[in-house]
Amino acid sequence: MKHIDVDWVIATDRQCEQVIQSGTVRTHPDKDYTVHVPVNNLDPDQYYYYRFSSLGAQSIIGRTKTMPQELVPELNMAVVSCANYEAGLFNAYGLIAEMDDLAAVVHLGDYIYEYATGVYGNKSLNRKNVPPHEIVRLNDYRTRYAQYRLDPDLMRLHQMVPFITIWDDHEIANNSYTTGAKNHQAEEGDYALRKKAAEEAYYEWLPITQNMEHLYRYSDLGPLGTLYMLDERLAARTAPASGVDDPVYLDARQVMLGQEQLDWLEDKVKEKPEGWHLIGNQVLFSLTHAPGRKPNMDSWAGYPAERLKVLNWLEEPDVQNVILLTGDSHSSWAFEVPRSISDYRSSHRSLAVEFATPSITSANADESIPLDTVLHIEQTMLHDSLNAAMKYINLHDHGYILLRIRPTEVAAEYRYVDRIDVPSIHQRTAAVWRVLKGSSFLTK
Ligand SMILES: [Fe+2]
Repeated sequence: MKHIDVDWVIATDRQCEQVIQSGTVRTHPDKDYTVHVPVNNLDPDQYYYYRFSSLGAQSIIGRTKTMPQELVPELNMAVVSCANYEAGLFNAYGLIAEMDDLAAVVHLGDYIYEYATGVYGNKSLNRKNVPPHEIVRLNDYRTRYAQYRLDPDLMRLHQMVPFITIWDDHEIANNSYTTGAKNHQAEEGDYALRKKAAEEAYYEWLPITQNMEHLYRYSDLGPLGTLYMLDERLAARTAPASGVDDPVYLDARQVMLGQEQLDWLEDKVKEKPEGWHLIGNQVLFSLTHAPGRKPNMDSWAGYPAERLKVLNWLEEPDVQNVILLTGDSHSSWAFEVPRSISDYRSSHRSLAVEFATPSITSANADESIPLDTVLHIEQTMLHDSLNAAMKYINLHDHGYILLRIRPTEVAAEYRYVDRIDVPSIHQRTAAVWRVLKGSSFLTK
């Protein structure tokens, strides 16, 4: 097996000339020739520039930024999820890359999709998955990541802004959990091997610390607060119930986080009680009621016992300023998070807020039903008293949330691209929802 030595430099200027640290790292086929360099002793709240060189060639220059240690007036993050290559162009990624004041891209998962070409997406676009079959083995996952990483918008975004990522289901297979996935069939082999391959390629191809015990982790934002990234797929998730009538539905052994992860989160939040607690959460925590639709067993609605544990924790008086950041649903939402909808209606109490980000490209409702019908469903849902804690809904646009974290408020700007079938640099901010420090209510 042939290894390659890769030189790296990190500098303080855009031309990468004022080098402050450098080194050489060895990579080899067992890592798919990927390179990860942990860099320490950097100053807080600073831009840095880096470059790799090897085999007589130089990489493009990348930019990153360290988190602040002092209280800053504003820290901005783009919150994204669900970028299906075959569904459209990653225009939203390209637009985020042009922003100059971002601390990070928070990626809540579905960074890749596992499907064969032509199965899920827009067949009229010339964007075909590589390899063309459903990805199952290690080399398949590696190749799919390589394809995504060559997309010019995603490449540009990685070049300009640091990523904080968590996987959702499609980094493995649709609706995955620890022991299986809806889109894993027996003829595709042993699920444990597939999961291992998917995890390995993820750690290789994403900018993430190597050899971690588990993927759930946190980023310290200084006195402003903390960002926690939860793993709701592979850390502990049990197989979902088939529906609310399934005998296991209410069973306390049905978990998405597991006790160890939940204990970790609770302990971490206690360490810095005064800051914002931003929780990167893959699937919707808030319950939604849609005409003629059953609760989604793949979301928190499918795990009521553990959901109640989280609500009990959120109700503790010293657990304040919690914001759930959610992906997965390919739709935009803003919710207040009550203990229950009846409690909300009688006492108007809210324990947290939840901002759910739209997809970068993955299909949302108007790609399967006419837009007029979707708009009608949105209004019906928004005015349904069972959805009283839902303050905002958009089931038809693609884009991202720009989160502005300030000492006294957090504002979520819902930004949408005009189209994904051709390159476009047009976007609009359709809504801004805020939560004030000390409150768990949303205001415009
Ligand atoms: Fe998705």
